[in-house]
Amino acid sequence: MRLLPLGPGLPAVSVVGYGGMHLSIQDRPPEAQGIRVIHAGLDAGVTLIDTANAYCLDAADTGHNERLIARALREWRGARERVVVATKGGIVRTGGRWDRDGRPESLKAACDASLRALGVEQIALYQLHAPDPSVPFLESVGALAELRRAGKIRWLGLSNVSVDQIRQAQGVAPIATVQNRLNPFFREAIQDGVVRYCGEQGIGFLAYSPTGGGRLTRKLPTDPVLSTIARRTGLGAHQLCLAWVLAQGPTVFVIPSARKVEHLLDSTGAADLTLTPADLAAITGAQFDRS
Ligand SMILES: NC(=O)c1ccc[n+]([C@@H]2O[C@H](COP(=O)([O-])OP(=O)(O)OC[C@H]3O[C@@H](n4cnc5c(N)ncnc54)[C@H](OP(=O)(O)O)[C@@H]3O)[C@@H](O)[C@H]2O)c1
Repeated sequence: MRLLPLGPGLPAVSVVGYGGMHLSIQDRPPEAQGIRVIHAGLDAGVTLIDTANAYCLDAADTGHNERLIARALREWRGARERVVVATKGGIVRTGGRWDRDGRPESLKAACDASLRALGVEQIALYQLHAPDPSVPFLESVGALAELRRAGKIRWLGLSNVSVDQIRQAQGVAPIATVQNRLNPFFREAIQDGVVRYCGEQGIGFLAYSPTGGGRLTRKLPTDPVLSTIARRTGLGAHQLCLAWVLAQGPTVFVIPSARKVEHLLDSTGAADLTLTPADLAAITGAQFDRS
């Protein structure tokens, strides 16, 4: 599995990570199946797992995904110390909604809860899930910087941010990673310069929803351009999609989610694919149907 440094001066992890979200939100599978999926990914060389305290059903279930990942790691026989678990704070699931809460005191309490859920003394990578429009952005980032100084988090990441916000945050603390959406249907992260800026700074860009996220994911096999390349190369449409995302910058990772072992194993196969310049250009030039 191809590896890349997670951020400036950070250890290298697998370019195909695993996003645990679908093991813990609506339509989640039984926990035993979730553990099998995580173990299959780890066995295939995945060393980056993305989670969040908010990957759960509602407020009472907060931390479900973190607890599941912690259990999977405890029960796995491989080299756990090589695996980076990245979690997030800043979103709350009151009533099952996805509400932002970036108040410093909320982030500090969320981080303490995540430490307990993950069963660790220090969180490797702690990400601000999303800026909260009702809280000055740098106050939220400042809370994460304090958590880092207190030794509760090792590296700091941002999610759902612009280049301007990344620059502002870098004035407060070193930024290891940025997690924004990127897939062939939604390319704002390229258009707004975030992928390029991360590449220039050595910041790991974690592409979320890299196959489109659920409904759009299922459209990939019938996309005219992807299916033509798939027929010619014998590769799957999801692998081609992930390889295209990975090719968008020198620091790009993908964190596909999966409830099925075969889906995750298919995705890990994308790590070592190199698309020809012609195939890359064909996917870049294609209009993907979001309807
Ligand atoms: N920071 C944020 O605001 C944010 C927002 C959204 C997501 N995320 C992160 O990004 C991760 C992925 O996002 P996502 O779930 O929205 O998008 P995604 O990974 O593009 O889509 C996940 C869905 O695609 C299916 N799938 C994945 N790989 C496949 C393959 N090779 N073949 C066939 N089907 C495949 C899975 O199906 P099955 O479930 O049936 O296996 C799963 O339901 C999340 O787990 C989370 O960690 C972050």
